[in-house]
Amino acid sequence: MSIVEDEFATARTDRLERQEPAYFSIHDVHSYYGESYIVQGVTFNVHEGEILALLGRNGAGKTSTLRSIARVDSPLVTRGEIWLDHKPLHEMKAYQASQEGVALVPEDRRIIAGLTVEENIELAQIAPPKGWSVERIYELFPRLGERRKQEGVTLSGGEQQMLAIGRALARDVKLLLLDEPYEGLAPVIVQEIERTLAEIKKLGMTTIIVEQNAVAALKLADRAVILDMGQVVFDGTAQEVLDNKELREEYLAI
Ligand SMILES: Nc1ncnc2c1ncn2[C@@H]1O[C@H](COP(=O)(O)OP(=O)(O)OP(=O)(O)O)[C@@H](O)[C@H]1O
Ligand SMILES: [Mg+2]
Repeated sequence: MSIVEDEFATARTDRLERQEPAYFSIHDVHSYYGESYIVQGVTFNVHEGEILALLGRNGAGKTSTLRSIARVDSPLVTRGEIWLDHKPLHEMKAYQASQEGVALVPEDRRIIAGLTVEENIELAQIAPPKGWSVERIYELFPRLGERRKQEGVTLSGGEQQMLAIGRALARDVKLLLLDEPYEGLAPVIVQEIERTLAEIKKLGMTTIIVEQNAVAALKLADRAVILDMGQVVFDGTAQEVLDNKELREEYLAI
């Protein structure tokens, strides 16, 4: 072995032995809405460029987990650590987490009334760090380009979902959190959003997707975490969930 090869091998071993932390990790996080104890010691990792499907029955704590990660005021995280690219999100407020690249696309999409499609996107770009240009977002979602002057709230449900995702990309995103992107959409629109998420995946964007449509989420995802009553009951590959009938029936009803 040459000296160069030898050094390379040593550096690699060092890296493995040091067990470098994952790009994103949530460790033993507990959160409350007032007295209600909801997120009960959740732990999982997401590697850079990976898509993780966060699944579980209604009320399992999926949205609460995403909200804990995005550092919004409620639920209140009382214990645990959340790290993104070596930065301690657990010590941050929501606006700081956003500046660090956490983008939460909530279930209700939060399109701003009185603003056009384009103004909704531009508003997201006001504070640095800026992400994708308006033109690049229209390339990904041509329908948004066609409707750039239309008021955002008058878009169809599927188009509003596109705008919500587009607006997230207008920021410099390191971790994309999608809460039920397919909710309430017709199958053909779901397919359209699926295609764009597959495009985003190719770009290597680290993503956590919460979906009731578990099959669709698992098709897109590399790995899956299943929550039940605020706790992790499964952590493995997406394929393992698809192959495990008992797991699917017990926690996902599919
Ligand atoms: N603002 C709140 N105040 C009190 N309890 C809440 C609040 N929001 C959610 N909860 C409770 O926390 C639990 C978990 O809710 P969460 O929204 O995280 O579930 P979920 O897995 O996203 O469910 P779904 O699939 O229905 O969206 C539920 O029992 C819910 O009633
Ligand atoms: Mg939810």
